[in-house]
Amino acid sequence: MKISSAEFVMSNSDVAKCPKNNLPEYAFIGRSNVGKSSLINMLTDRKSLAKTSGRPGKTQLINHFLINKNWFLVDLPGYGYARVSKSSKKVFQKFITAYFSKRTQLVSAFVLIDCRHEPQKIDLEFMQWLGENQIPFSIIFTKGDKLTKTKLPLNIEAYTNEMLKYWEEMPNYFISSSTSGLGKDEILSYIQEINQKMANS
Ligand code: GTP
Ligand code: MG
Repeated sequence: MKISSAEFVMSNSDVAKCPKNNLPEYAFIGRSNVGKSSLINMLTDRKSLAKTSGRPGKTQLINHFLINKNWFLVDLPGYGYARVSKSSKKVFQKFITAYFSKRTQLVSAFVLIDCRHEPQKIDLEFMQWLGENQIPFSIIFTKGDKLTKTKLPLNIEAYTNEMLKYWEEMPNYFISSSTSGLGKDEILSYIQEINQKMANS
């Protein structure tokens, strides 16, 4: 899919204030610093559409980006960031869970996982929660450029084996790199296919 336009629409912490129209949307979620905002910039070919930082905790709100005037990409704050205070962590969690449970326009979430890391409890539990709440999701293994060609598939295999302890099958997944553009075509084609199916139904 060609991205001909990508516009920032709004930021807020209240799902009730998110855009009212019924356009399909896709949300990026995962630990702080996993690369959610960078991936949005990579997918849209815009350097700084979504704000990124080497320090975790950059994205603090629900951010809507309108793509090709007919669907949204949504950048969310990361979870599992140790340095935010307990009270602001609670506020975060509240509006993130509210977003996922109430946002009927959400077509699918993308759960981002750093391909270098061992499976982490917080991600596994979050995916479990999505499953229990019947929220469709795919996994995106990020920072694919940081592992060698041999190590990358081994890590994905280890992750798959861990997932299969809880899931009947491995969820749909992608491997990405915001520096090399790896995964871009696959992720955009996947979104386009769903958008087309929805438009035809
Ligand atoms: P929060 O908003 O804090 O939750 O973080 P985020 O998940 O949005 O991460 P962000 O996109 O801000 O990226 C965090 C850091 O990782 C930045 O320094 C990015 O440059 C770096 N980064 C993100 N994606 C990649 C990638 O694919 N490869 C490499 N090498 N670095 C990446
Ligand atoms: Mg971010």
